[in-house]
Amino acid sequence: MTPTVIIFTVHALLVHALLLVPALAREDGLARVPPMGFSTWYAFGANYNETRLIQMADAIVSTGLRDAGYLYINCDDAWLDPSRDRQGNIQGDRVRFPSGIKWLADEMHSRGLLLGLYGCPGVRTCEGYPGQFEHEYQDAATIAAWGVDFWKADNCWQKWAVVDTYGPELSNASYPASEPAVRQFLHEREFGLNVRGLSVSGEDAMPINWAGASGLPPFLPDTCPPEGGRQMPNPTGHQVQQWEAYRLFGEALQATGRNITYSICPLIAGCDPSVFGYYKNFSHMSMNQCPQVDNTDTWESFILHLDANNYVPSRAVALERAAAAGPGYWNDLDMLMVGYKLLKAWEPRQTLAEYRSQYSLFAILAAPLIFSADIRGTEEYNTWTNDTASVLMNKAVIAVNQDPLGQQGILVANLTADVELYRRALADGGLALAVLNRAVMPLSVPLNVTWEQAEVPAGWMVTSVASLWPGTAMPFTEDGFVVDALDTHDTLLIRVNLTKVL
Ligand code: GLA
Repeated sequence: MTPTVIIFTVHALLVHALLLVPALAREDGLARVPPMGFSTWYAFGANYNETRLIQMADAIVSTGLRDAGYLYINCDDAWLDPSRDRQGNIQGDRVRFPSGIKWLADEMHSRGLLLGLYGCPGVRTCEGYPGQFEHEYQDAATIAAWGVDFWKADNCWQKWAVVDTYGPELSNASYPASEPAVRQFLHEREFGLNVRGLSVSGEDAMPINWAGASGLPPFLPDTCPPEGGRQMPNPTGHQVQQWEAYRLFGEALQATGRNITYSICPLIAGCDPSVFGYYKNFSHMSMNQCPQVDNTDTWESFILHLDANNYVPSRAVALERAAAAGPGYWNDLDMLMVGYKLLKAWEPRQTLAEYRSQYSLFAILAAPLIFSADIRGTEEYNTWTNDTASVLMNKAVIAVNQDPLGQQGILVANLTADVELYRRALADGGLALAVLNRAVMPLSVPLNVTWEQAEVPAGWMVTSVASLWPGTAMPFTEDGFVVDALDTHDTLLIRVNLTKVL
């Protein structure tokens, strides 16, 4: 072979290798099914302390939520003390967590629960508390020593925004040369990432050289549909740095040897299949959709998150996004709003039908079930109503979410302009189907759904159908079933049992 041919062949092999690197989920035994639990964020914001968390933990046990599977009690932002201790270690807020985080973890464990904490791989968390930047291995060791079980890494104050503060180059004085932070720095220098040129606004002075960036996702074509909010720009230096920062902290957590479920929130990511498979190399769940906006207790917010997961450019891309999920890694739709502050009548909130829809679609899409309602039954709020319980504790729906096959479902048919059919394959060979009514009106006429639309595989026969809200057998025929009535914004969720026909 001539040198040109050799170079070309080697280049082609490298490109091929990058594209074909199998995106295997971490084989650490964690998150084999979507994590379930509670997060402080929407329930309490920054206003919580150890007493509140213990009360929440007790309520989660006494209501039966723990036994239904909600095991994680996650402190979101604002559990930290504003300053590190003299050795530079992070510490819990000394006023609100006087007994310390290790004590809190022990309390959770003694109740059969797990403790989660929150941080940012940048210099500060979104609420301004110390971040993990340049403390990655130190903080991971602290977290592991406390006995923490879950870590959410958020996306505020990432490195590109603080280059001015830290100087043009990362100092490697505090790291041995083998540390990933140093490797990352060298890697950036080697591949021409222009750390110096990144401005506070996040605009890059110089595009990066993707072809040489080994281990990173391959070049992202601009495949997103042009309509608002779903555009995926080509990767820029700060996106790469963002991905690398999440990866670095994931490696630091893994190096502790403790089982810590790792949740990440990359700012921009969502439309390109190569990204879908990337995060699973080092995290267990990711909000990898664009746009990434926080949930609110509104129908519009739910629809925005749902569509970010489904209205990718084509069914092929939707399938690839879904295929990234599976035992060990899940596409995160943010927290459930079910039961959020129901007694505050002046706040926008969803109806019971809308909560049912959110929960049903989280089940179909195999999304983590992290609720954020204050269910302690205090005078302030009492969100532990029959309605909340009927949604969060519907065991048949939880079983769909937690199905061991771990196959994320997708949208398979538009039954009318407003009514959609979603489908998820289950471990027992059956299917879960969701019929979602987006219309502001209830169904005006009964709707036929065929087994063909539900993509019942050839050679299989339907043996029974059960509606999961509230859990009753449903009539069906050889051809399909009829949706007699469906309220505005409500979802019919059904489980279909199949048998192989010889
Ligand atoms: C961001 C996240 C939220 C929450 C807050 C905390 O907005 O998206 O989920 O973690 O930060 O400050």
